[in-house]
Amino acid sequence: MSRDSSSDKPWAGRFTEPTDAFVEAFTASVGFDKRLYKHDIDGSLAHARMLTHVGVLTENECEAIVAGLEEVRADIERGAFDWSVALEDVHMNIEAKLTDKIGIAGKKLHTGRSRNDQVATDIRLYLRDEIDLIAVEIKRLQSGLLDLAEREADAILPGFTHLQVAQPVVFGHHMMAWFEMLKRDYSRLMDCRKRVNVMPLGAAALAGTSYPIDREFTAKLLGFDGVCENSLDAVSDRDFAIEFCAFAATLLMHMSRFSEELVIWASAQFDFIELPDRFCTGSSIMPQKKNPDVPELVRGKTGRVFGSLMSLLTLMKGQPLAYNKDNQEDKEPLFDSIDTVRGSLRVFADMVPAIEIKHENMERAALSGFSTATDLADYLVRNGVAFRDAHEVVGKAVRLGVETSKDLAEMSFEELSQFSPVIKEDVFEVLTLQGSVAARDHIGGTAPSQVRAAVARARAAL
Ligand code: ARG
Repeated sequence: MSRDSSSDKPWAGRFTEPTDAFVEAFTASVGFDKRLYKHDIDGSLAHARMLTHVGVLTENECEAIVAGLEEVRADIERGAFDWSVALEDVHMNIEAKLTDKIGIAGKKLHTGRSRNDQVATDIRLYLRDEIDLIAVEIKRLQSGLLDLAEREADAILPGFTHLQVAQPVVFGHHMMAWFEMLKRDYSRLMDCRKRVNVMPLGAAALAGTSYPIDREFTAKLLGFDGVCENSLDAVSDRDFAIEFCAFAATLLMHMSRFSEELVIWASAQFDFIELPDRFCTGSSIMPQKKNPDVPELVRGKTGRVFGSLMSLLTLMKGQPLAYNKDNQEDKEPLFDSIDTVRGSLRVFADMVPAIEIKHENMERAALSGFSTATDLADYLVRNGVAFRDAHEVVGKAVRLGVETSKDLAEMSFEELSQFSPVIKEDVFEVLTLQGSVAARDHIGGTAPSQVRAAVARARAAL
């Protein structure tokens, strides 16, 4: 089936000339909204069953519509559906094909609804399914982080502030920080799902319909938690898509930070981790190169997800009630965000458990930046020195270390004890990296035992 003439359009009745050819292409959305076909058909099946339930359609008409729509679905899925730009969008394409197949009953399907409530319903159904797939991928990435955190609960690396060596932490603790961010992203997604899963159908064009529809009946068939309570709002607002894009932007912001760390850690200067070859690429000119493309790309893709959020916010802000054609522009940013989130999560969930840790390099780095200076200050405080005085004492010891190229733990007792009379031989116990991390033994601290407990709690909750 191919329709090139505007007189085939379902709304052609009041028009006196065909649509300008370029306008037809400019205003069509079928090129991108055909990805809603499955949910459009599901929505139509439920609508037809509801119309039959309330006596607007006969059982025979309903059976014909159901069989016809299933045939259309099969045609689309085996690539035998001829999408027509003249029919604008996924909705009119499917309806026209249905009518070709079953005749007059096909023309009755649109009774008591409009493309305005239809499209709002389709997007919500589609987004709900995508949210459920994304939720699974977040959990898969989280579970990879837990495995890595447990495996490396004792591996010490420098923790940074200002990207300067600050205090030693264990790698597992660092991974659990990413786990926590994803936990909040997951809960944002679930929160968004509640507001996505409300049904616009029944709002019709904008004011509702004069047919005796049963919206609860349709909502139940489609698995919606409820119905939109105002028809004008139902067909016009896309805040649920904006909310999803805000979730996506926050998730990708987190993944971008994670990516940035992986890129830094994989560099020759840090050399903390090895990313498996299958997640990297080489250079066409420099034979020695192994580039961390996956985290770099995820970091780069964050930009488009931020852009989509801004697109949708801007799309919405100037619109008077109710539906406006502007809303057709909601789809591409939303779809792009969904694709980007799914792809980024998938590749990270595959890659993260395969990250290899270079223990000696991380430990050497932790030893080289006076990372136990705070521990020395705490030692002085425990022995009666006021914290501000302790801070100054340690500062002097660090200055000596810089001049003599020695870490605090590498200094002799004579060198250290000249700075304070309370420094005794036992000072070396707190100056080791292991002593430093083990001392932070409270919920949220970096002690390996606390990290293992955090992993166990997280596993139970996942
Ligand atoms: N393709 C349109 C969209 O994506 C469907 C709704 C069209 N409604 C209308 N009154 N022209 O928003």
